[in-house]
Amino acid sequence: MTATSPAFSSRLGFILAAAGSAVGLGNIWGFPTQATSNGGGAFVLVYLLMILVLAYPTLVAELTIGRLRQQNPVATMRTMSHQPLWRRTGVIAAVVALATLGFILAFYAIVAGWLLGYLFAAVFKIFGQYSVAEWFVSFSIERNLLMMALFMVMTVRVVRSGVKEGIERWSKRLMPLLFLLLIAMAIYVLTLPGAWQGLVMYVTPDFSQVTDPELVIRAMGQAFFSLSIGLCCMMTYGAYLSKDENLPKTAGWVAGVDSAVALLAGMLILPAMFAAQDMGVTIYSETGELLSADTLVFTVLPAMFDSMGPIGNWIAVAFFVFMVIAAITSSISMLEAPVNTIREELNIERATAARVLGIVITGIAATIIYNFETLFGLVITVTTVYMQPLMAIIFGFFLTWILRQHLLLKALQGGSPNIEKTWFWKLWPGYVKFVCPVLILLVIFV
Ligand code: PFF
Repeated sequence: MTATSPAFSSRLGFILAAAGSAVGLGNIWGFPTQATSNGGGAFVLVYLLMILVLAYPTLVAELTIGRLRQQNPVATMRTMSHQPLWRRTGVIAAVVALATLGFILAFYAIVAGWLLGYLFAAVFKIFGQYSVAEWFVSFSIERNLLMMALFMVMTVRVVRSGVKEGIERWSKRLMPLLFLLLIAMAIYVLTLPGAWQGLVMYVTPDFSQVTDPELVIRAMGQAFFSLSIGLCCMMTYGAYLSKDENLPKTAGWVAGVDSAVALLAGMLILPAMFAAQDMGVTIYSETGELLSADTLVFTVLPAMFDSMGPIGNWIAVAFFVFMVIAAITSSISMLEAPVNTIREELNIERATAARVLGIVITGIAATIIYNFETLFGLVITVTTVYMQPLMAIIFGFFLTWILRQHLLLKALQGGSPNIEKTWFWKLWPGYVKFVCPVLILLVIFV
C-alpha cells in the first residue's frame, strides 16, 4: 500500500497549514456575528469552553487517526480493525465525511466568491470604474457563478501543486500576511470614533443568555467548524505530520492560533460596526436587533468604506484581501482531503484528481446558486450543525473503542515518548471514549 508520501517539511509548516485550515470565514465572519447576536461576551466564554472541552480533544483524536497510518482517510479507516464489519463501516464513515466536506467547500466557495466580488469592486473604484464596480457587488447569478468559479480555480491551482509546493508554501506566505492585516486593521478601527462602544459590547457578557440551549449548540457548532473537525481534513493533515511531533502540543498550537484569531476578529468587526454607525450607516434592524452577518460584511462595512472617501477604497481592498486569504487557506484543506483520497485509492495523478474534484464541486456550488433560497441555508445547517459533530463522534469512537489501546498509545508516543506517564494520557482516551460523545449528543438533541 502506498503511504501518503508528501509530508510537511517542518513543524511550523504544519502548524501554519493546519491553522490556515482552521482560521477562515468561520472565525472572521461567523464568530464575531454569532457573538453579537448571542449575548456578546457570554457567547465568547461558552465558545472558549467548547473549544477546550470538546473541540480540542476531538482535534487531537482526528490528527492522531491521520498520523497513525499516514494514508488517506479511506485507507486509514479501513485499517482501524481486522473485522470486516468495522472495516466497511470505517470506509463508509470516511466517504460520508468526505462527501460532507465537498458540500461545505461548495457553499464556502460561494461566500468566498462574494468576497472576491467586493475585492474587485474596491479595485475598480480606485480606478474610477464605478459601473464595473457596481456589477461586482450585484447579487446576480452571473456574478455569483463567475466569482465562485474563480475562487475554485485558485483553490485547485494550490492543491494541484502538492503539499510542500502548494499547501505549505502558500500557507507560509499567506498566514503571516493575514495576521499582519488583522492586527493593523483592528488597531486602525479602534482609533475611529464610536469603535469603543462595539468593543464594550463584545467584552461585556450578558449572562442571562448563557443557559440558552440554542447558544450552547451554536457555540459548539462554531467551535467544530472553526477547528475543521469531523470531515477528514485534519485527518489528512495529520497523515502529513512527522511521527516525531508531539501531537497534543501541536494541536494545542492550532487551537490556540485559531481562537486567538477569532477573538481578534471580534475586536475588528464589532468596533467597525459601531464606527460605521458613527458615520451614519444603519446597523440595527427595524426590530432593534443588530444586522445579520451577511448584511454586516456586505452592506455595513462597504458603506463605511464608501463614507471614508478615497482612502476607504484602499482599506476595503485590504479588508477583502484579508477575507479571501482566510478563505483560501481553508478551502485548500477542504479540497486536499478528497484529492489525496482519490489520488491514492484510484491511483491517479494529483493534478487530475484536483481538476476533476474541482469541477464536481463547482457543479454542486452552481446548483446551490441556481436554487439559492432553498439550498444555501439547508446545506449549511445539515453539514455544519449535524454532520460535523456526528462524524466527530464516529471518528472518536473508532479511535478509542475499535482501535487497540496499545496502538493508540504507540500513535501518540511519537514526539512524546513518555506520554503514558502524563496526565494527558491518563485523562484523554477515557474522555474521548465516554465523555465527548455524551456531551456532543446532549448538546445536539436535548
Ligand atoms: N475552519 C474553517 C473556518 O473557520 O472558516 C472552515 C472549515 C475548513 C471547515 C475545513 C471544515 C473544514 F474541514
